[in-house]
Amino acid sequence: MNSGLDDVVAAETVLSDVDGALGQLVVRGVSLDELVTSARYEDAVGLMFGGFFSPRDWAAEIGRARADVYPLLHYTRSSSDLPPTDALRALLARLPDASDADTALKLIAAHAVFTAGTLRLRKGLAPIAPDPKLTHAADFLRMTTGVAPTERQSAALDRYLVTVIDHGLNASTFVSRIVASTQAGLTSSVLAAFGALKGPLHGGAPGPVLDMLDAIGEPTNAYPWLEAALARGERLMGFGHRIYRVRDPRADALKGAVRLLAASGAIDPMRLGLAEAVEEAALELLRRKKPDRPLDINVEFYTALLLEALGFPREAFTCVFAAGRVSGWIAHAREQALTGRLVRPKSVYVGPVPREAA
Ligand code: ACO
Repeated sequence: MNSGLDDVVAAETVLSDVDGALGQLVVRGVSLDELVTSARYEDAVGLMFGGFFSPRDWAAEIGRARADVYPLLHYTRSSSDLPPTDALRALLARLPDASDADTALKLIAAHAVFTAGTLRLRKGLAPIAPDPKLTHAADFLRMTTGVAPTERQSAALDRYLVTVIDHGLNASTFVSRIVASTQAGLTSSVLAAFGALKGPLHGGAPGPVLDMLDAIGEPTNAYPWLEAALARGERLMGFGHRIYRVRDPRADALKGAVRLLAASGAIDPMRLGLAEAVEEAALELLRRKKPDRPLDINVEFYTALLLEALGFPREAFTCVFAAGRVSGWIAHAREQALTGRLVRPKSVYVGPVPREAA
């Protein structure tokens, strides 16, 4: 039984293509390498949404949408002790459930505004109102930390949001499409997708990557620590992928951003040195463990270092991932809805049969 639906083709899409053998990601005809160096997040949203929503000034409208959703933050004041993922999920549920561009814009804006506001409320600080004139990445950082980010910090978050905007038919995107096929609205699609994203085998891995780095502590401890973890049958967070048989290209896009931040002193060189030692030891151990099943680094490993350096706490990493991926979920939901076809696969019953038929 193929319970993981490996190699099953469940959709036709114009949105993105993941080549697991070559380690390439193409988003609407543009390679990831080109996209991360040429597009702000707002431009990437415009690229994703082309043909699914009428053209508009996405940067200006996402900025306005941040201001529109900000008042909804007051719903979180009584529940600011919730983990950020739970708080974000509860707040997203307050948005209207339609399929128009206005709902799409609010969903994109809400991820940044609600995550930043929740993080401040959890620290006993007042939320910071959005500045619609800033880029989405710069405003997200400003609303989170309370200080104007440097250009390099904004560029690093921008690169992250663009890097994770879409990635074929991953688990959360598939969920978004399934919900859209019932003709539920975009908020329902996004909420369901977010629920799928937060598991540690999908978008919940970068927090545990930092837990692993903390537990290892010293570069010299990397090899014995990882060897013992594998011997206990544990999975190394930030490694392995269902599709890639080579390095995940997103890992290098993010490693580049991490190195840029390190060059400006925003990342402790000891932390980066530890991560590189862990990467090297893990790759060697995984090669030995599974000589026939190439296991390489995935997007989550350097995500962890990047988001930590930008000031996000590890329990909010999945929310920041969702802030980038939300546009992919929305575009896929629209694409699926346009097929007009309900997703309804079959299962094979293997349970007991009624007594009279036995
Ligand atoms: N550490 C150790 N062993 C691993 C790892 C890992 N990270 N990943 C896979 N393996 C091993 C499995 O134990 C399995 O061994 P077995 O055949 O002896 O049982 C073998 O490699 C094949 O594993 P599968 O489960 O078939 O691989 P799958 O394609 O289903 O898993 C997954 C992909 C879930 C991402 C897996 O690699 C994993 O758990 N990684 C760690 C969590 C992680 O980093 N998640 C983020 C993924 S990226 C994203 O979703 C945004």
